[in-house]
Amino acid sequence: MKILMVCLGNICRSPLAEGILKHKAQQHNLSWVVDSAGTGHWHIGQLPDARSIAVAQRHGIDITDQRARQFHPDDFDRFDRIFVMDTQNHRDVLQLAQTETHRAKVHLMLNLTYPGQNRNVPDPYHDDNGFEEVFQMLDKACEKMVSVGRLEG
Ligand code: 4NP
Repeated sequence: MKILMVCLGNICRSPLAEGILKHKAQQHNLSWVVDSAGTGHWHIGQLPDARSIAVAQRHGIDITDQRARQFHPDDFDRFDRIFVMDTQNHRDVLQLAQTETHRAKVHLMLNLTYPGQNRNVPDPYHDDNGFEEVFQMLDKACEKMVSVGRLEG
């Protein structure tokens, strides 16, 4: 299984989602490929935000090997599933989709834990206190993913 996490900047939310899912997949012996990208270009090549690095570190996860990149239409073919953090990311990614197969790969992250509710992972960029809450939301969604993954084999 190849999974791509997508947010706006690829420095706050999706790097955390990538780090958490890689960590859980490893714990469960799932040989998944996990990556992340941003719909925007502003932070290409940068480390994750220091606040994301810190919250991940507090939970025993190192995300300092990551560098931001922009979502590319090739990602529709390179990945089996694309999880977006909010409805704006959802619109932006779908706009680049060429086929129904591409469109069907794109899912809102929190629909894993709150099916059909189309909830957003809040953008914590302007909220120093938001990072732990975002971590917890992503952790629960990733836990769901690996538990389904174990059933699927
Ligand atoms: P992210 O957060 O999408 O979770 O990485 C953001 C980071 C940077 C910006 C916006 C959101 N920005 O506008 O620079």
